[in-house]
Amino acid sequence: MTGLGGERSLAGVIPVRGAKNAGLKALAATLLFDGPVRIENAPSIEDMKRMAELITAAGGRVEEEGSVLTVVPDAVSVSALLEDVAKRLRASIVLTGPMLARLGEVSFPFPGGCVLGERPIDLFLSGFRAMGADVTEDGEHFTVRTKEGLRGAELFFPVVSVTATETLMMAATLATGTTVLRNAAMEPEIVALAEFLNRSGARITGVGTPTITVIGSAGKKLTAQGAFVTPPDRIEAGSFLILGALLAKKLRITDCDPTHLSVLIELLRRSGVSITEGADFLEVEAHEPPSAFHAVNVRTHEYPGFPTDLQAPMTVYLTQVTGESYVLETIFDARFGYVDDLVRMGAAITTMNPHRVLIRGPRELTGKELEGPDLRAGLAYLLAASVAHGTSTVNNAYTIDRGYERIEERLRAIGLPIERVTN
Ligand code: EPU
Repeated sequence: MTGLGGERSLAGVIPVRGAKNAGLKALAATLLFDGPVRIENAPSIEDMKRMAELITAAGGRVEEEGSVLTVVPDAVSVSALLEDVAKRLRASIVLTGPMLARLGEVSFPFPGGCVLGERPIDLFLSGFRAMGADVTEDGEHFTVRTKEGLRGAELFFPVVSVTATETLMMAATLATGTTVLRNAAMEPEIVALAEFLNRSGARITGVGTPTITVIGSAGKKLTAQGAFVTPPDRIEAGSFLILGALLAKKLRITDCDPTHLSVLIELLRRSGVSITEGADFLEVEAHEPPSAFHAVNVRTHEYPGFPTDLQAPMTVYLTQVTGESYVLETIFDARFGYVDDLVRMGAAITTMNPHRVLIRGPRELTGKELEGPDLRAGLAYLLAASVAHGTSTVNNAYTIDRGYERIEERLRAIGLPIERVTN
């Protein structure tokens, strides 16, 4: 792609697609059901395809019609997750809860996915044990079994984990007795999942707060009432907002929920960006170059704090505004793997320690050959390449396709000179 070299020329409307991290969990949740489950507004991305492959390999049926997926879980009978896929997809761990609840057994390899530092699974295993399951470990393989089904338990998470909250909440849905999850994650995707499960017969209260209570159904599976409508992807919306702040004259981001992006909006406004919020859209309008905006400090935090998944795009933004800022990553141990590439492009970023970088702006960036270490950093590279002078090539587009649907077509539609050369 050819960078705009700081020229403010993007304009138009860009709709946000369904959230990856909600769609994936809805797919996993289908194992809690009897009969078909319909997922609407499903993003057409590689991670969703991988999750569908895992369900198919377990015996389920997944039909795709545009952005609607229908999953028929009735014949699910294979409790071993498909090795090759599970090893590469961190979100595969979310299937273990529903699978264990449905079949009384699940085995899986240590889940892979983006390398963001250590990503242990101790919270999942200790949660299953507390609910009465036996966990055996053979090298990098785990088998979890229950003799008489899962039973409710009091669980306290020493760290807040999105997928552990979701997995154990789902397992608890079919358990016997009441489960209480304390220090639970509060992400909007978890709320959307619980609302759908409740509509279909689950009894979950407290989602969106740190204490979630689940009254189990004692093995009775759920029956879908209506479709799961995938909520908008707040990370995609936030990334588009940052792109707009950098390069748009006027950009309208539609089909999103601005209430899920309060911290980002607040920080960008403090930095000087003019943003209009509607019920389901955001509009960013600017006439001055980004150097007219000022530096702001960022500290990632569990929801409703600043999302770690927007950390890399925000760092790109901070290379273009005036002043010195720091970005502090509190969730993952190694999420600054992209920084060296930004420095290679001309950014002034000093790594203070594995969790904190110092950014001095503005600096002019020059196009380079890049390859994102994870999907969010991959998108950040597209932002960096957009503001740069000259041409950039972002290799291994698969990393970006994992989480963003047809990204180049959508960015081209708002004026970015970007094309796909190969996958
Ligand atoms: N953790 C443990 N033990 C566990 C599980 C997690 O110590 O058993 C720690 C992690 O090491 C980390 C912290 O808990 O330090 C929080 O990680 P969390 O478990 O919340 O992350 P995750 O559930 O694996 C989800 C998203 C990520 C997103 C994080 C944080 C999915 C599929 N993934 O991951 O999204 O960054 O929450 O919000 O929902 C992405 O979409 O690109 C992505 C990486």
